Amino acid sequence: MNKIKELFNIQYPIIQGGMIWASGWKLASAVSNAGGLGLIGSGSMYPDVLREHIQKCKKATDKPFGINVPMLYPNLEELIQIVIEENVKIVFTSAGNPKTYTQYLKENGITVVHVVSSLKFAIKAQDAGVDAVVVEGFEAGGHNGRDETTTLTLIPIVKEKIDIPLIAAGGIATGAAMYAVMALGADGVQVGSRFVASNEASSHIDFKQMIVNAKEGDTQLTLKELAPVRLLKNKFYEDVTALYAKGTSIDELKTLLGRARAKRGMFEGDLEEGELEIGQVSGLIHDIKSAKDIVEDMIKEFRITKNNMEYISL
Ligand SMILES: Cc1cc2nc3c(=O)[nH]c(=O)nc-3n(C[C@H](O)[C@H](O)[C@H](O)COP(=O)(O)O)c2cc1C
Repeated sequence: MNKIKELFNIQYPIIQGGMIWASGWKLASAVSNAGGLGLIGSGSMYPDVLREHIQKCKKATDKPFGINVPMLYPNLEELIQIVIEENVKIVFTSAGNPKTYTQYLKENGITVVHVVSSLKFAIKAQDAGVDAVVVEGFEAGGHNGRDETTTLTLIPIVKEKIDIPLIAAGGIATGAAMYAVMALGADGVQVGSRFVASNEASSHIDFKQMIVNAKEGDTQLTLKELAPVRLLKNKFYEDVTALYAKGTSIDELKTLLGRARAKRGMFEGDLEEGELEIGQVSGLIHDIKSAKDIVEDMIKEFRITKNNMEYISL
């Protein structure tokens, strides 16, 4: 039996990554209903908004779903309390120290997964007692590691040193990629960018369309001095680049970033001035479709790939 299916009691080992401004209850419940595991991204939510999303998600699916809690926002404590009060049984923490909440969440009967982008943090997460890790390569959308280790390299390096189940993330949008990372030792996959371009994602339609039009080379990891993030190149990205070119300071970068850039870009659809988080794999996303079709197409392609590999002789 697949370890990730068993851990979450789901049909397919496909997890929809928690994503600010993109993964509310509609996307999470659609993915869970399709047999994967949907995650509500609490990073862009005030506590009462998170509660509303959890309650709506419960009405929309009777399948397991979880909450992603990035540990870098001021109302972290309140978000955690809401998850416990609302009796959600799966939490994916990210962007912080796995020791901070893992034991507390587990004492409350919650399955805990932590997202990492390096071997060092994977071991730290295992030591903190998490049930599984998401191991994310630097091609992924959103906030990312400083070391620029790719998914292809990072998965086997982490696999060699940990015993808990491993979920691969970063650059996975197809069944063939899912097959590849499972060949490297992953027990399941976390998919982000592909689900941003879905009917159910709460991201702005113009942002979704820009993802469909994106080509290889259109994203870049930047703002390493603040929190490294992979962005689609637009005017805001060019403004950041111009600051780097003249020699900038952290304060200047912070001032340029300002507040609510991500909301402005991904949620409100300001494609010029907004921050547009997406992965390298956007160059392979050619349509906007339902979450159900994304899950089913990945599984179909995984099976075809597996079958085709039988016929490859070396
Ligand atoms: C728009 C966007 C927002 C994201 N926001 C979060 C977040 O709030 N918390 C988090 O842990 N990861 C976040 N991520 C990362 C995803 O959960 C996922 O791990 C990543 O997208 C996987 O790589 P891929 O984009 O190549 O599929 C975000 C990714 C994207 C594209």
